[in-house]
Amino acid sequence: MHAPHDSAKQARFLPDEAATLALGRELSNVLVPGLAIWLQGDLGAGKTTLVRGLLRGLGYEGRVKSPTFTLVELYPLSSFNLYHFDLYRFADPGEWADAGFREYFNDQSICLVEWPEKGGDFLPRPDLEVRLDLAGEGRRVELAGVTEAGRRCMQRLATQEGHTGGDGSAG
Ligand SMILES: Nc1ncnc2c1ncn2[C@@H]1O[C@H](COP(=O)(O)OP(=O)(O)O)[C@@H](O)[C@H]1O
Ligand SMILES: [Mg+2]
Repeated sequence: MHAPHDSAKQARFLPDEAATLALGRELSNVLVPGLAIWLQGDLGAGKTTLVRGLLRGLGYEGRVKSPTFTLVELYPLSSFNLYHFDLYRFADPGEWADAGFREYFNDQSICLVEWPEKGGDFLPRPDLEVRLDLAGEGRRVELAGVTEAGRRCMQRLATQEGHTGGDGSAG
């Protein structure tokens, strides 16, 4: 017996940095405010590169720097705020409450979190989980929608594949 095709999950090989940036752009077309997205994988896996591609896709032309020391970087976009977390150095749970990070996760924002495992119980549940791993010279990426909103994103991603610039009416 074969499992039915699960449009809530996808795996791809990303041969070079350009492919990671392109996936970020694709994702930028299917995201909606309110989503929380976990970006997992080792140092150098390409998490920040993916966020950079995503922000470019959303029309942000400025610098996208890794929030390694600031923990979070805010990008105010025209219709929502995008928060890019990197919790690699997250050490003080008190900071989570004091800085009001919890309030950043709301239905008017999109939150992308590198190293979510370091945030432990402080983090809400994600809608989408993205995992990047080294694969030869490139990267392997796995994406999974884990809430209803996340699964809808993954369906839109599957639908728009090979239809860059399409109007999305196929789905
Ligand atoms: N698909 C890919 N293939 C090869 N190199 C990549 C790929 N995606 C990103 N890179 C490179 O990996 C390096 C680390 O990327 P970065 O996004 O900073 O990783 P992370 O945020 O996971 O630590 C960068 O030099 C980037 O150009
Ligand atoms: Mg990074």
